Amino acid sequence: MEQRIKALREEMRKRIDQIDSKENLSAFWQEFLGKKGSIADLMKGLGTVAKEERPAIGKIINDFKVETEERYKELSEKMDQAEMQARNKLEAVDITMPSKKRPLGHLHPLTHVKNEIINVFSGMGFSVFEGPEIEDDDHNFTRLNVPKDHPSRDMQDTFYLENDLMLRTQTSGGQIRVMDMQKPPIKVLVPGRVFRSDSDATHSPMFHQMEGLVVDKGITLCDLQGMLDKFVQQLFDANVRTRLRPSYFPFTEPSVEVDVSCFDCSGKGCPLCKHTGWIEVLGGGVVHPKVLENCGIDPAVYSGIAFGIGIERITMLKYGINNIGLLFENDLRFLKQF
Ligand code: DAH
Repeated sequence: MEQRIKALREEMRKRIDQIDSKENLSAFWQEFLGKKGSIADLMKGLGTVAKEERPAIGKIINDFKVETEERYKELSEKMDQAEMQARNKLEAVDITMPSKKRPLGHLHPLTHVKNEIINVFSGMGFSVFEGPEIEDDDHNFTRLNVPKDHPSRDMQDTFYLENDLMLRTQTSGGQIRVMDMQKPPIKVLVPGRVFRSDSDATHSPMFHQMEGLVVDKGITLCDLQGMLDKFVQQLFDANVRTRLRPSYFPFTEPSVEVDVSCFDCSGKGCPLCKHTGWIEVLGGGVVHPKVLENCGIDPAVYSGIAFGIGIERITMLKYGINNIGLLFENDLRFLKQF
């Protein structure tokens, strides 16, 4: 019996030194310390040992058991510790690592240009007013000197709604709203979305305008050109100039179409300016006396200038965009270029 215990004890020591995984450790436990393990087996065999030898043999078996348990416990704790250390290392936070960057968005080119325009004019003392997108006939047309059935209504393809309402075709109605609220001196910008039944490479049924209105004593067309010169020089290039061409708008007299000398070829002629050296950028003029009258402002005392800027047009010119649709498709491959 003693021989057997000794051999098993040797075997146990050899085996425990070879254990390299928790699975092996658990198998070891089953084999030596489990209910059907070899130590339990030895205990059972104690009954066959001569009575007087039993206490001594019993002690040897017990020593064997205690040693096995201790060795098992020791290795088990060592393995737990190693496992914990490995996990800590794996999960450790390295605070010196650069953080993950979320891609940041940016303003839409139209918003950017709108802000730029506001920025230039607010430097000249303009404030900003916004009117409604659903406008009544009075503000969009009639009081702007476009009476019902007047042919100049056909200049714009209007989306009519019921009860004399419409989607505004221009931000010019904002002029009326401002003059109703405020008496001169007036210096205001009216940005906003406008709507017309029109769609091709340079027209979209929804687009953006920026209206400008100045009313005071002694305001003339020269003030308009002076302001617009400063405006285009800041927006396009310090060397560009403006040119006024006679035009027609019902709410201005005289009315002008404003060209800017081509900022791509400095006026020599190129595809952008269609080899004319000039690019049309906006419309404007001296506020028609009837429009002032319609807002209770005496045209004998006050005069005004007004202009309307197409924000898409300016944006397309500034960035060389040839299709207006690109501005509304929200294709990130396009937008990311700005
Ligand atoms: N409202 C005009 C348009 O949409 C643009 C315009 C022209 C506005 C002359 C003005 C102006 O204020 O004076 O075509």
